[in-house]
Amino acid sequence: MKIAPSVLACDFSRLGEESLAMEAAGADLLHLDVMDGHFVPNISFGAPVIKSLRPRLSIPFDVHLMISEPLRYAKDFLQAGADYITFHLEADSPIDQTIEFIRQGGAKPGLVLKPVTPAEAVFPYLDQIDMVLVMTVEPGFGGQSFMEHMMSKVAVIRQEIDNRGLSVLLQVDGGIDDTTGPIAAKAGANVFVAGSSLFRQPDYAAAVHTLRESCAGAV
Ligand code: DX5
Ligand code: ZN
Repeated sequence: MKIAPSVLACDFSRLGEESLAMEAAGADLLHLDVMDGHFVPNISFGAPVIKSLRPRLSIPFDVHLMISEPLRYAKDFLQAGADYITFHLEADSPIDQTIEFIRQGGAKPGLVLKPVTPAEAVFPYLDQIDMVLVMTVEPGFGGQSFMEHMMSKVAVIRQEIDNRGLSVLLQVDGGIDDTTGPIAAKAGANVFVAGSSLFRQPDYAAAVHTLRESCAGAV
């Protein structure tokens, strides 16, 4: 069970310190939400911010691209030091080519499904990627409520991953806390993005530990 704090929920004026604090707290990945104001109705930050953070941390960077043209900007995120680059199936770039570009650039490619997108949409690419991200809110904003009905999608993808004998990570993102994380774990998720539920707590180490233990305890 991997915990990936989303810095979208942190105090951006202290981005470096907050990220380091989550690393020290035992986070497995740092989740970085990139929004272009076009694919989603919000703008967050881009590759230069990620690049400036990279030398300060040693945990893997999990870059979630909520942008319309992932292929056009993938090079910038590779050069910024992303370890995982996930992009949306619903975006405008050719999917096979974008996966290949990320792989050739030395990062691990992943695909993201919006709530409206069915599980089967990712099946043709499952053998080529390292992670599937099932959105459990509409992408664009932190602090929204977990969509429990996405759990059937998680379960269908989990079954397909296992049937094919793959080790693809299965991530959930949106509204994850100590109550909803275990529900997603039971459905088959093994990477948990959490923004507001972690950053609002005073003790990050305790928060990361409790979330990981509650998810692990559910399976
Ligand atoms: C939403 C982002 C999420 C967001 C999660 O578009 O992809 O990563 O930061 O925030 P919480 O955990 O607050 O729902
Ligand atoms: Zn995200």
